[in-house]
Amino acid sequence: MGFGLTNGMLGDMASDPSVLISPSVLPANFAQLGQECRDLEAAGADRIHWDVMDGQFVPNMSMGASIIKSCRSEVDLPFEAHLMVKEPDHLLKGFVDAGCDTVMVHAEACTHLHRTLSIIKALGASAGVVLNPHTSIEPLRHVLDMIDIVLIMSVNPGFGGQSYISAIEPKIRLARELLDTADHHIDLEVDGGISATTIGPAAAAGANIFVAGSAVFNHPDGYSTAIEELHRVGAKARS
Ligand code: DX5
Ligand code: ZN
Repeated sequence: MGFGLTNGMLGDMASDPSVLISPSVLPANFAQLGQECRDLEAAGADRIHWDVMDGQFVPNMSMGASIIKSCRSEVDLPFEAHLMVKEPDHLLKGFVDAGCDTVMVHAEACTHLHRTLSIIKALGASAGVVLNPHTSIEPLRHVLDMIDIVLIMSVNPGFGGQSYISAIEPKIRLARELLDTADHHIDLEVDGGISATTIGPAAAAGANIFVAGSAVFNHPDGYSTAIEELHRVGAKARS
């Protein structure tokens, strides 16, 4: 069994109903991003999701590694970089050096996905593959040994505040089945339009980590209530 995990441990992970919530800071107040990160940590976030957009792969630009680096010492939470970037190989070291624990790249943006994942692993970070709503799970099949997490987009990437695309739920199920054939645990994360209404079906389909931007930042009762609600509804759906 790879990575020192026994079948029992893998089974335990599969049976664990808890979910992780990874707020996207795209909607945050960038004039006080460090404080926003501290507030998210205090509110119970499990990690922070950094949406990096290059204006080429997606029709929007957002932030680079230096912004992430400026917030690294503000919190202890793991940082995951979602690179919506064409051919990201030359940028990977910068995001790991900025303090990202996980770097996730779009299968659609990497001509040589296996090489890109190899670079991330060689840099000592966890490697993730992101799939757009229209993309099948097939790009995952022959790089399972390189992957630590899969991010399934439930919106078309480039903007926060979009509506959840429920048609991706069968793909979540198929992805979970495929990931379970690997000899190590691979997390399954969903990103886009996640709220207390949509997290249930996505969790029931097999996802265990959820990105939430507007559902956290726009919640009338604040970050803590939003994150607690997402934890509760997501875990209930997985139990
Ligand atoms: C979209 C990003 C998502 C988005 C999530 O391109 O990858 O992470 O910011 O925001 P909400 O939760 O508002 O859809
Ligand atoms: Zn994202």
